[in-house]
Amino acid sequence: MNKNKSYVLIFVAFMLATSLVVSLIMTFHFQQDTSKLRFELTQKYKEIKDQEYTYDKKRGKALYQDLCMKCHGEQGRGNSIYPPLYASEIALEKNPKKLIKVVTKGLQGKIKRQNKLYQGAMPAFGAIPAKDLAHILNFTRKTFGDPKHTDISAVDVIKIKIDTVERTSPWEEKDL
Ligand code: HEC
Repeated sequence: MNKNKSYVLIFVAFMLATSLVVSLIMTFHFQQDTSKLRFELTQKYKEIKDQEYTYDKKRGKALYQDLCMKCHGEQGRGNSIYPPLYASEIALEKNPKKLIKVVTKGLQGKIKRQNKLYQGAMPAFGAIPAKDLAHILNFTRKTFGDPKHTDISAVDVIKIKIDTVERTSPWEEKDL
């Protein structure tokens, strides 16, 4: 083998080894990140699992106005860019799993709602405390849907957060 060829081989081997080490470090780092988060959420779950949740409409409304209204509108009617929450299947479905998933991680990609196409980016609100998220979601469901809708509790929110801890990017509709 001539000298040049062996330099090339050494170089290629070096690059392969480097990228392997980098990807191992990144994988490890990512796993550590999610396992730390899972641990924190599990602690939180243990702390609140026996506490009674009571819906606070005033707080739910104030938070909705602060965090959601600028896109979805005061009456949840949306507009040509942002979909309505009023009569939204995901928002009003009896099982709140999809709703909690959308609000904690966000939503992106094409969706068709009430005969209109939307393709925006719903931001993630996973950093908002679970109890406050529950207030917002109950406000949304009761005000834009059925006032007698059963409550989503802070524990429901935490459980979904634990189940989806590995998801680090916004959902697409097909993954919900
Ligand atoms: C910056 C604008 C913006 C804000 C603020 C926002 N959203 Fe959204 N939301 C969107 C967009 C855009 C979509 C649709 C995403 C897509 O097209 O894939 C969406 C989708 C949704 C959906 C799914 C509706 C359906 O029928 O599929 C729900 C539920 C929702 N948002 C709730 C909320 C709540 C609750 C808040 C406040 C905590 C909030 N959003 C704040 C932009 C926003």
